[in-house]
Amino acid sequence: MKALVITRTGGPEALALQDVAEPSPQPGHRIVRVAVGGLNFADIMTTAGGYPGTPAPPFVAGREFAGVEETTGRRVMGYVQWGAFAEKIVPKSELVWPVPEPWTDEQAAAFPVNYFTAYLGYWQAGMTQTAARGRTHRVLIHAVAGGVGTAAVQMGRILGIEMYGTSSSNEKLTRVKSLGLEHGINYKESDYEEVIKELSGGEGVDAVFEMLGGEHTAKSLRCLRDFGRVIQYGTATGKQPQLDVRALYAKSAMVQGLWLTYLAGKRDIMEAAWHQLSTWIEESKLIPVVGHVLSLDRAAEAYRLLMERKNFGKVVLKISG
Ligand SMILES: NC(=O)c1ccc[n+]([C@@H]2O[C@H](COP(=O)([O-])OP(=O)(O)OC[C@H]3O[C@@H](n4cnc5c(N)ncnc54)[C@H](OP(=O)(O)O)[C@@H]3O)[C@@H](O)[C@H]2O)c1
Repeated sequence: MKALVITRTGGPEALALQDVAEPSPQPGHRIVRVAVGGLNFADIMTTAGGYPGTPAPPFVAGREFAGVEETTGRRVMGYVQWGAFAEKIVPKSELVWPVPEPWTDEQAAAFPVNYFTAYLGYWQAGMTQTAARGRTHRVLIHAVAGGVGTAAVQMGRILGIEMYGTSSSNEKLTRVKSLGLEHGINYKESDYEEVIKELSGGEGVDAVFEMLGGEHTAKSLRCLRDFGRVIQYGTATGKQPQLDVRALYAKSAMVQGLWLTYLAGKRDIMEAAWHQLSTWIEESKLIPVVGHVLSLDRAAEAYRLLMERKNFGKVVLKISG
């Protein structure tokens, strides 16, 4: 079968379209003919050799997909650790979900990683519960115009959360405002810490979705309100998160990790998350934002869109059909 192979550790130039053996059926798994794959920042890190739990190259890239289940013919979307950018995949049964009727394969391939991650971020921050009377939850979402970011904005709107979001581009911020973002902050033009202090009347936010690392972990912590949480779920800058734990004392604040790879192994958590997400989908409140659709032979270009911060919403790769 045709597959996108990470041939060696490196950048997008290390990717190659190759013929590889089809994966073998396994108990507790499904066999899916893949139509579209969803590209994630984790795919960039995996190629660069920085993603925990993936094998040494060569292996097939890709963490999420939409396609058709071979035995039943039903349309499905799913999540794996690698191997999704291929004509066939054998995912775990519990990490495969039905594609909502009106969605395209492109929309379905944009769902699993971004929407589970964003939902679990709100859940870990205690924001899936209604805020106390007379109080509105506030969140700061970094990379708000990206895959996880646009998913978090759609959910924040449903949950009645006041949202602040950062991006490098005014054009991206304008587009994400149409999804419900109230306060867009271009970090190339303004200091997000200052803007939040000013717009929240000096109070700060209840949670920060922090995926930058380096100085931004400490800076995000300074954006918090009392008892707030920084949900640390990435390091796009490539730098270790900086944190002086003593800074947590001042506001009884918390920095909490979130890793979908780990949580995906917790069946009860994933089932509860899907229960809520599928309810919102049925109510037409969640619609994945697909910004770029490229064919598999343009995968290197797709990877560069994320690396060079040029993407809006999700980048997906057409694999067959
Ligand atoms: N822990 C988990 O389980 C988990 C799951 C999913 C994603 N993540 C993390 O969440 C983040 C977003 O992932 P995604 O797949 O949705 O990507 P994405 O947000 O669609 O794309 C990355 C965006 O990050 C922003 N960015 C800021 N600093 C950057 C830098 N130094 N290099 C590149 N981009 C930078 C850019 O947006 P602007 O130009 O608008 O700033 C860029 O478009 C990543 O850090 C990823 O590793 C973690």
